[in-house]
Amino acid sequence: MSTEVRPAAVDTNELRAQISEKYTEVALTPEKGFHFHTGRPLARMHEYDDAVVDALPLGVVESFAGTGNPFSLGDLKPGETVLDIGCGAGFDTLIAAQQVGPGGRVVAVDMTPEMLEKAERGAREMGLTNVECRKGYAEELPAEDETVDVVISNGVINLCPDKIAVMAEVHRVLKPGARFQIADIIVHKEVPQGAKDDIDLWSG
Ligand SMILES: C[S@@+](CC[C@H](N)C(=O)[O-])C[C@H]1O[C@@H](n2cnc3c(N)ncnc32)[C@H](O)[C@@H]1O
Repeated sequence: MSTEVRPAAVDTNELRAQISEKYTEVALTPEKGFHFHTGRPLARMHEYDDAVVDALPLGVVESFAGTGNPFSLGDLKPGETVLDIGCGAGFDTLIAAQQVGPGGRVVAVDMTPEMLEKAERGAREMGLTNVECRKGYAEELPAEDETVDVVISNGVINLCPDKIAVMAEVHRVLKPGARFQIADIIVHKEVPQGAKDDIDLWSG
């Protein structure tokens, strides 16, 4: 039996377009209902503090679509520089911005403009001036080498077929000895190649 692991044979641009379409809906019509959980009920499932969630703008909370809680691995420290990969509507971005305080900053990256706009609006509503939203891809991060103390990410890397490229980018932007706090989906069994190559199974 071959142990070769082949990347998914899907068209990257087509996949990104499909995923972006889905998350545009999560940004603009979060009440619609999806094949995944969203919003405040999801935040409760992932054990975010109610008080922390209450402090966020409603529009940010309702479009939350993470797969876990990156802060369960530890809070961030005042003054740190953070990069949030696939920030969505900014749920974790805005929590991180409060934790690092005015002496720190959070760069929030997402490929879906409607999500980024929500994150930007949320930061404005909260009066957070240490958040910068950048359009970009997890596989080609819009950030300089060795400039980040902590990379956070929630529910995004499972949507990226080229996980090695994402990890190489994370490694590139992190300072030596820096941290990577992610929440994502892990499978314990090999995914059949046919399933990996089926673009419709990536975005649902
Ligand atoms: C499941 S949502 C999670 C959003 C956010 N982290 C949260 O917890 O609510 C996935 C997000 O990742 C973004 N995304 C998916 N693939 C991406 C990629 N290759 N590069 C950048 N963003 C991506 C989508 O636009 C979407 O906003």
